[in-house]
Formats: sequence, structure tokens, C-alpha cells
Amino acid sequence: MSQWGRWSLPRPCCTWVLKLLHMSRGGCAPLSTPAWVSPNPRRSLSHQAHLLLTPRGTRSHLSVPLAHSGLQQGASGSGASGWPSPACGQPSSLKPAQPGALQARQAWKEMSSPDTEAMRVLHEFSNGFMVSQVLFAACELGVFDLLAKAPEPLGSAAVAARLGASCRGTQLLLDACVSLKLLQVETRGEEALYENTELSSTYLARASPTSQHHMLLYMGRTTYQCWGHLAEAVREGRNQYLKAFGVPSEELFTAIYRSEDECLQFMQALQAIWSVHGRSVMAAFDLSPFPRICDLGGCSGALAKECVSLYPACHVTVFDIPEVVRTARKHFPFQEEERIGFREGDFFKDPLPDADLYILARVLHDWADDKCSQLLARIAQACKPGGGVLVVESLLDAEGRGPLTTQLYSLNMLVQTEGQERTPAQYQALLAPAGFRDVQCKRTGGIYSAILARK
Ligand SMILES: C[S@@+](CC[C@H](N)C(=O)[O-])C[C@H]1O[C@@H](n2cnc3c(N)ncnc32)[C@H](O)[C@@H]1O
Repeated sequence: MSQWGRWSLPRPCCTWVLKLLHMSRGGCAPLSTPAWVSPNPRRSLSHQAHLLLTPRGTRSHLSVPLAHSGLQQGASGSGASGWPSPACGQPSSLKPAQPGALQARQAWKEMSSPDTEAMRVLHEFSNGFMVSQVLFAACELGVFDLLAKAPEPLGSAAVAARLGASCRGTQLLLDACVSLKLLQVETRGEEALYENTELSSTYLARASPTSQHHMLLYMGRTTYQCWGHLAEAVREGRNQYLKAFGVPSEELFTAIYRSEDECLQFMQALQAIWSVHGRSVMAAFDLSPFPRICDLGGCSGALAKECVSLYPACHVTVFDIPEVVRTARKHFPFQEEERIGFREGDFFKDPLPDADLYILARVLHDWADDKCSQLLARIAQACKPGGGVLVVESLLDAEGRGPLTTQLYSLNMLVQTEGQERTPAQYQALLAPAGFRDVQCKRTGGIYSAILARK
């Protein structure tokens, strides 16, 4: 059996982050009720507006043609076409169609046709960025934090006052959040009162241990700006820091860390995901045979933390560039200090720490093949026989035709880095020439998966 035969079967990726990203990037259901939350009987104004804007081939979306069609709606309601049938028991010939009825019926048929579905999909895709912005703005304004701290649900005027925002804007934003199931609303007397849903309490409020707040801020401020130049990125085949921020990117991480504040935001953003997926990625393979682990490009040490909590006997050295290590020491204190160390250096130039296992989590996807090969060759040189390398990345399927989230991440690598996401076979093609063998891949079912190879 080939080594590829051992790979576990992909399971559907269905974490909330995937859904949010997928949705925010036009992948699915941005403006209609998201499929991943239970239906809410209350419908906000924005949701109703969406129904009017989005022809779906159901009568409720076409009140205007119905009202002007001249057709009478019988007691039995609509026929299979969605149009009213003639009154119950009356042959249609007894109720001649009034002027305009045929045209209206034709119009209805057209609205219900595959073209209508295509338009609905187009609307959803093109409006996807608005959904992203609702999420980003609500995070940035602190809506979820305020509601998490409030002892009881708040009205929009109270939210506006406490956030220092306009009443009109706050009202509209809160209602959009309700339709997206990021908030829930309850009416008491005349007043609508808002509170967090389980999703926002768990993943959006900053105080939650699994909060993705910083990642969403980073996406709203930095990633979004780069995506505004996607067409140029595709034309030029390069990242867009110069156009988006006026900084050259010949040295990629000089552009990414263009200010101290930006460096801190990047580190806070990147660590968020490991509070949700770190454990499954670290548990994909039994890493207990590797007591000395080096996390190359380990950033704030978030994955190292998951690693030591899962493997009590191991010690992890986080290796990263000096600025990142300094920021980690200052802003990301650890309880597990004696089991996690930091070392400054450039993994393309400086000697690598001695280790039994080298982790490369979301590192190879930053770089083009030649730089990946260079880095892997250096790791192979430092690695003892029997030692290993663990690659943690979002994997494309074998044909590179999906999943959509990973394809979108790959475009994100285009607008923000020098790299791309890859298929397992593409990683194997990088690992084997560097001297790694016995390459195994485990898909976790989440966004990130793991590949382990031995020297
Ligand atoms: C995309 S981040 C991934 C961070 C972390 N592994 C994670 O998954 O959250 C890439 C990391 O590689 C680090 N890095 C980039 N170039 C480097 C270099 N030449 N030497 C050492 N680290 C580097 C960055 O500072 C950053 O922490």
C-alpha cells in the first residue's frame, strides 16, 4: 500500500469559523437566514427588506406582481406554480383571466426559473462583503463585549449611548446582526432589547477563552484592504501591501509587521484560531515520541501551549524573528514558562535549535516553492535520523478543486504573502527531495490538518 493509502478520509469542515469565513466571502447564505443556526421566528426589518430585494420564486417575494395581476386568490391558496389557483371548485373557464394576467403569469414563471436562482446566488455572493463588514464593525465597535458584560439585554439607544455611536446606525447594525443570528432580540412593551447569541458569546466576545475577536479585527483592518486589490493581485501575481498600505514587500514580514502595533495585532489575530483548533491539530499524530519540539515561526506560542498541555513530557522552543519574540515576551505571558522557551532568529539564515520534531504551522503557505524547499532542506540538515517535521496547514483536496475555504485562503496568500495553499501531494513533493520520508497526512475535519514526515 502506498503511503498515501494511509490517509484518513476527509470529513466535512463545519466549524463556525469556516462558516463565517465561507459566508463572509460569499460562499453561502450571507443575507438569508444562515443554514447553521436555528430559525428565529422574529424577522427584522433588514431581513424583510432582503426578501423584497431577492426574488426567490415564492409569492411572498412578489407581492407587487401578485397585487397587479388581476388574478383572484381562491380559498385554496396557490397552485403548484406558486400562483393562486382559480377559486375552489370553479373551472378556470368561468373566471376569465383579466388583462395583464397572462403577462404576469409569464413573469412569475420567469422569476421562478433557473435564471432567478442564478440571480439570487449572484446577489448573495456580491453582498457577501456587507455581511463581513457587519461582523467586523460590530466587533470593532464592541457590540458583543458590551452585551456580554451587560447584566440584562439592552435597547439600541442604550447600546448607542454606551458605544458612543449614532442611534440610527446602531439600530440598523443591531438589526442586521439579529438576522445573521449574531444577536437575538426580544420585545418588551414598545422596546426591542438585544443580547448575544451563543455563537457571539462563545466566539465574538473578547473575554471568552475561544474568542476570535482579534482575528476578525485583523481581517477587517488589514486583510480586507488587501482583498480590495484582488484583481490587481491576480494580474500581477503578487501581494498588495504597496497599494493597500504604501509599504514595499520585498521583505515579506517587514511589510506584514510594518509597525509595532500591526505586529501585535497580527500575533493576537493568529493565536485566536488555536484556542479552537489547536488541540485537534496537535492530537492528529501521537507526538509523545518527540520530547524536544521546535515550533519554527511559532509566533506568540499559542500552538506550543496546546502542545505542552497535550504532551506533558515535552518541551517546546518557539523560534521566530526577534521582533516577534520580544512582542511575545511582553504581551503573551505563559503559565507553562518552564516548558516553553523562545529563541530569536531567521529560519532562512540562522542555526536552527536542536529538536526531535520541527513544527511548521502556517509557515510553508507563506512562501513560494523555492523558499519552502530551502527551509525544508535546512530543517532536514538540523534534524537527527528518526526525527520529524510536522506541517500544519489548510489542505486543498487532491485535485485542488476545494474546499472553497482553502481556495479562498490560497487567494488570501496571493494578496498577503508570497505563497499559496497546497494539496497533500504538493507538500509531499516539497518534503521528499528535502530528505523526508514516510509522509503521512491526517485531516482533522477542521480547517487545519497535519502532515508528519520522518527523516
Ligand atoms: C503565518 S505566521 C504563522 C504563525 C504560527 N505558526 C501560527 O500558526 O499561528 C508565520 C510566522 O513565521 C514567522 N517568520 C516569518 N519569517 C521568518 C523567518 N525568516 N524566521 C523566523 N520566523 C519567521 C513569522 O514571524 C510568523 O510568526
